[in-house]
Amino acid sequence: MTRHDRVLPSAIEAIGDTPLVELARLGRELDGRILAKLEYLNPGFSKKDRIARQIIEDAETDGRLRPRQTVVELTSGNTGTGLAIVCGIKGYPFVAVMSTGNSTERTRMMRALGAEVVLVDQAPGSVRGQVSGDDLALVEQETQRIVTARCAFRADQFRLTGNMRAHYLHTGPEILRQSAGRLDAFCDFVGTGGSFAGCAAAFKEHNPAIGCFVVEPEGAAALKGQSVTNPGHRIQGGGYSMRTLPLIESVHVDGYLTVPDADAVTWARRLAKEEGIFAGFSSGANVAAAAQLLRATYRGKTVVVMMCDSGLKYLSTDLWP
Ligand SMILES: Cc1ncc(COP(=O)(O)O)c(C=O)c1O
Repeated sequence: MTRHDRVLPSAIEAIGDTPLVELARLGRELDGRILAKLEYLNPGFSKKDRIARQIIEDAETDGRLRPRQTVVELTSGNTGTGLAIVCGIKGYPFVAVMSTGNSTERTRMMRALGAEVVLVDQAPGSVRGQVSGDDLALVEQETQRIVTARCAFRADQFRLTGNMRAHYLHTGPEILRQSAGRLDAFCDFVGTGGSFAGCAAAFKEHNPAIGCFVVEPEGAAALKGQSVTNPGHRIQGGGYSMRTLPLIESVHVDGYLTVPDADAVTWARRLAKEEGIFAGFSSGANVAAAAQLLRATYRGKTVVVMMCDSGLKYLSTDLWP
């Protein structure tokens, strides 16, 4: 019996178990298959609900989080939305610290879900809608200040292993089950690297030959070791120009792919029009990267990607003209 066949005690139990859909229409022009995990169908409309639940429940289990203690985290909006849902249901006050560069839908949604949202001005020269590594450094400073001031639990998505464990324990195994283990590659646009690391660990354990590729914005491919020329790219939720990410250090990376902003936008729009999948910039970037693989070394093969969040989160941007 799946969770769809019974009454659930709360929306927390409605997190995960998302469908895996073949992008058959987009696949017509490609030699091979793209399978898309519809993570925008989570209660907070993104894959980050999963890590919110895992991080909070891990901390409850080992006593790092006390009843009614305040939870604080830096977010581009999606982790904050997940935490707002999980903390709201479990009775922890939640403070989301976010750059003003992220879309306004995110702030409004987190506030609706009961979160306190602290907005941090962007670094001088930054562009609204384009959150750079410098912007994120300012958000980090403010987050640390609030954690200390409120004796709060930091749901630190860049460091806590609950982030990758959510995907290692659930997302990866779900994909393996749904595809009957028949996938050749996985490529994932990284922010914290949690979904890449967790899924890649699960896939490699099943079959070390499954190729796992990190996706970065063109001009901000810092993990690939390139110099950063476009820190203010448009692919929200990642591409922060960090040279290392703690969570991906334990996982083998088969390669690094870069996606120009324009390709992320084109594929996000095509996903909506041709596949009925209304997702965001990073989902477009993931499909753009999968198409690169199918046109080169993975011709004729099956590539899995995440549809990270909902296109509704970008209605105020020019993603949807
Ligand atoms: C829309 C979106 N795409 C991609 C990512 C990157 O995911 P991860 O942090 O697991 O690398 C995030 C992370 O916040 C996100 O919000």
